[in-house]
Amino acid sequence: MNSMNASYDFRGAVALVTGGASGIGEACVRALAAAHAQVVVADLTLEAAERLAGELDDGSGRVVPAQVDVSDQARVEALGAHIEATLGRLDLAVNSAGIGVTNQPVVDHDPEMWRNVLAVNLDGTFLSLRMELDLIRRTAGRGSIVNLASVLGHRGWAGSAAYVASKHAVIGLTRTAALENAEQGVRVNSVSPGFIETPLLVERHDAEARAAMGALHPVQRLGSPEEVAATVLWLLSDSAAFVTGADVAVEGGFLSR
Ligand code: NAI
Repeated sequence: MNSMNASYDFRGAVALVTGGASGIGEACVRALAAAHAQVVVADLTLEAAERLAGELDDGSGRVVPAQVDVSDQARVEALGAHIEATLGRLDLAVNSAGIGVTNQPVVDHDPEMWRNVLAVNLDGTFLSLRMELDLIRRTAGRGSIVNLASVLGHRGWAGSAAYVASKHAVIGLTRTAALENAEQGVRVNSVSPGFIETPLLVERHDAEARAAMGALHPVQRLGSPEEVAATVLWLLSDSAAFVTGADVAVEGGFLSR
């Protein structure tokens, strides 16, 4: 066993991962599948979700691809109805779908980009959470949900106002949903990664810029998607049964500076 992967057993549980075809979401899908959950890989492009499901599924239909645009209420509700009709239940969810921004100070910020980032990162998390809470409460009865926030949900970052605002809001949304669902047995937490080497980062920053970003973390490197997934799986598991409304930083000391 890889020392990073505690041996969770999610047998019998159905898990949904939005943004599941890439980066942190993909690492969560891989870890959940390895821990015997039935996993729905939901992403903007069905082909990408199908590729990952095809790689991981052993023919038993345990890894299921699905298309969703989390910013579109009708698509999110259709995904919930599809999960209920085909799998009958939902126990666990990871809301990882998210987009970054190109560098734009507030004074020059394109309002269209602002709306796009908020639509995916904040509305998308809200719409997914709303569907997941309803489905978990009506089917499994209890469960656990993890939202992807960010270290940029805890501090400012010049040039990234929309992203920073969306991630601060995800933390507040998480806390409130946790309060509203604690008695029903559905835990809601967020994870705040530091800079993680995923396509979201690699597509926007060259190797030199990424090295400089790594050096911003006291551990002197970027994080890996697997390191974030390890904390997400802990929060999904009963090992975290007394943890709800929390934001867990996975950031090599970034916020302690
Ligand atoms: P990524 O770009 O590798 O993966 C994001 C996935 O979300 C992609 O597969 C994309 O197709 C999907 N997606 C985008 N818009 C969507 C939509 N409207 N509906 C459904 N799916 C959609 O990104 P990464 O790095 O894995 O990020 C995942 C989450 O973690 C995001 O919420 C991001 O803000 C957050 N995060 C990432 C950090 C990083 O340094 N990479 C740091 C902190 C937080």
